[in-house]
Amino acid sequence: MSRVLIIGAGGVGGVVTHKCAQVPEVFSEICLASRTLSKCERIRDQLKRRIEIARVDADFPDEMMALIRCFKPDLVMNLALPYQDLAIMDACLAAGVHYLDTANYEPPNEARYCYTWQWAYRDRFREKGIMALLGCGFDPGVSNIFCAYARKHLFDEIHTVDIMDCNGGEHGHPFATNFNPEINIREITQRGKYWEGGQWQETDPLSVHQPFDFPGIGLREMYLMYHEELESLVKNIQGLRRIRFWMTFGEQYLTHLRVLQNVGMTRIDPVEFEGRRIVPLKFLKALLPEPSSLGVNYKGKTNIGCMLEGVKDGKPRKVYIYNICDHAECYQEVKAQAISYTTGVPAMIGSLLMLTGAWMKPGVFNTEEFDPDPFMDRLNRHGLPWIVEDK
Ligand SMILES: NC(=O)c1ccc[n+]([C@@H]2O[C@H](COP(=O)([O-])OP(=O)(O)OC[C@H]3O[C@@H](n4cnc5c(N)ncnc54)[C@H](OP(=O)(O)O)[C@@H]3O)[C@@H](O)[C@H]2O)c1
Repeated sequence: MSRVLIIGAGGVGGVVTHKCAQVPEVFSEICLASRTLSKCERIRDQLKRRIEIARVDADFPDEMMALIRCFKPDLVMNLALPYQDLAIMDACLAAGVHYLDTANYEPPNEARYCYTWQWAYRDRFREKGIMALLGCGFDPGVSNIFCAYARKHLFDEIHTVDIMDCNGGEHGHPFATNFNPEINIREITQRGKYWEGGQWQETDPLSVHQPFDFPGIGLREMYLMYHEELESLVKNIQGLRRIRFWMTFGEQYLTHLRVLQNVGMTRIDPVEFEGRRIVPLKFLKALLPEPSSLGVNYKGKTNIGCMLEGVKDGKPRKVYIYNICDHAECYQEVKAQAISYTTGVPAMIGSLLMLTGAWMKPGVFNTEEFDPDPFMDRLNRHGLPWIVEDK
């Protein structure tokens, strides 16, 4: 029986609230808090169970502290934006409350994804006797757990990993992003980066691509990108020779993105506009559909997984581990599209394993640092079944 405080009433926060509400024996009291109270009310009204809601601006640790003092959670789940990670971790540290998120901290004025800032909290969390679980969505999150599962059960040595994220769905909008537009566009427009031969290699943004035939979806062009789980997996999976991350994009999406970049709409530095300073990407976000609004007409599937190569019992082995998720089925269950669903379900499972003690130790951790088995078992039980194929 635990009290959980969920921050962020967007696409992912909505799914997490629904999924926690489905497990009352663990999440006995739930509070959903966000910057805009009406978004919490909308999610609360979709549920059969009673939950609390609150307004909070999580950029301010004092507001977070006041809410924590009032609700007294055992764990805070951060499903707002990466900008809030450190403020919420500070509040958790001051209050002695466990923490979980799905995306690593990045400073608002610089698109730089790295765990340095959050890993720096390790000693303080350990000394306080509380735990932080970082990046517990699908990718990062389940992608890391697939690697840990392969290391435990399928390989003696893992040499290469390709994480492949395909959205084969159609939402019916000319251009929209499946999670927060600002964070998504910052991620996609950065330089590509992957690990090979003991060092990081850089590429021009989206310049390296190849087709792949995704089970359940078909042939799609996937593009090499930097993604945050590469940083922790390089540290935590011993003996890796190469690790890369790929994501699929359609021609229409890429054409829109190119035009927006060319006219300066994806800039994150402030510009003067009619006597005010505005950040073009934040203005663009205000015009684009919210991720939580996309689910209603979404058709098709996602397929996210890992292709791993290495050695088992002295022989070369190649294995593909993946999940297929259907947008319309997600909408039917929790009123959300599959990108929010594939992120929210793992966040709920990570919290459940922390609160029930299966994954509990003081400090700051990434998901591949724990036994993957209870998590893999829960994925099958809570809506994200996975498949292992020898290639
Ligand atoms: N690991 C993964 O697999 C994965 C995949 C997808 C997304 N993610 C992460 O999941 C997070 C949520 O994504 P999403 O698609 O749900 O985004 P979203 O729909 O834009 O939702 C974000 C929510 O956070 C709220 N929020 C923003 N700043 C806040 C603040 N200072 N205090 C309180 N609430 C605040 C927003 O409120 P307002 O509407 O009032 O601004 C909004 O309701 C992002 O960090 C994203 O990077 C992870």
